Amino acid sequence: MNQAKGLQRVVKDQALSMRNAAGSTGNACLPRVIAVTSGKGGVGKTNIVANAAVSLSRMGKRVIIIDADVGLANIDIIFNLRPEFNIRHVISSEKTLKEVMVQSKHGVRILPGGSGFSDLTRLGEGEKLNLLTEFETLSDQADIIFVDTGAGISSNVLYFNSACDECVVIATSEPTSITDAYAMMKVMSREYGTMYFKLIVNMVDSEADAKRVYASLSGALDKFLKNVVLEYVGYIPFDRQLQQAVQKRGLVLDNFPDSVSAQAINEIAAILGKRPIKNNSNGNLTFFMSKVFQTTT
Ligand SMILES: Nc1ncnc2c1ncn2[C@@H]1O[C@H](COP(=O)(O)OP(=O)(O)OP(=O)(O)O)[C@@H](O)[C@H]1O
Ligand SMILES: [Mg+2]
Repeated sequence: MNQAKGLQRVVKDQALSMRNAAGSTGNACLPRVIAVTSGKGGVGKTNIVANAAVSLSRMGKRVIIIDADVGLANIDIIFNLRPEFNIRHVISSEKTLKEVMVQSKHGVRILPGGSGFSDLTRLGEGEKLNLLTEFETLSDQADIIFVDTGAGISSNVLYFNSACDECVVIATSEPTSITDAYAMMKVMSREYGTMYFKLIVNMVDSEADAKRVYASLSGALDKFLKNVVLEYVGYIPFDRQLQQAVQKRGLVLDNFPDSVSAQAINEIAAILGKRPIKNNSNGNLTFFMSKVFQTTT
């Protein structure tokens, strides 16, 4: 075993002992790492992550968002922030994670991704260790870490989804969104053994429409992927006020707090904020990063 691998083992052992000390039921000190993902793009992931993060932070939770969207990373836009640095600067050891993270006026901390996350597959052992050690420092600073993973079944999206404790899939009632969400869960379960997903249905006219999307997805899972469990979390109505908030580079929670989408997101955040009964749990942030690296090596 080379030195780098040895060190990586040490970091993983530390994470394991923290997790064992926390007990099998989990510990409020360890953050839950929640991937928010979709098959099809443009279904509302970034808006849901940003608004739910603010809602949870108003409930007293410490929330961090990791912007792992390697496409048009835009979480900073709806928070109206202009981060100077991103994860790339941490990888290259120019900055620490704390220096790179930016904080919204609500107290939500954001780790900007830039295009840095797309390089994870190409990192050397030393660079991975550097990142792992940096992530370890975040473990006691958050209750919930959202990972905005971007859309699709490209390997980077899948790596992040598989490394998280929980995987929340966003779908709309469009047939392409439903088939792409199904494809995502199929690949995740077959290739990464992720068997438990949560569903949020966005941009629908009614709860009945949302339930139809859930019925269609869970029906397909029952038929073709029997061991995969999909839990319905809730729905967010189609709401022009959310779009107006985006136009203003803002959050619907700030701009239209009484809007139907803001109310729905608050309800969803309260549900997400509760500890899950079942998940794909791996314990904490170091586990998250070490799993990312395991899947990339
Ligand atoms: N509930 C909603 N009602 C109306 N419009 C919405 C709603 N949710 C999202 N949108 C619209 O969809 C657009 C895309 O949302 P968002 O950027 O959050 O999606 P995304 O899934 O993160 O996209 P990408 O896959 O490109 O990262 C928003 O700019 C907004 O105009
Ligand atoms: Mg997005």
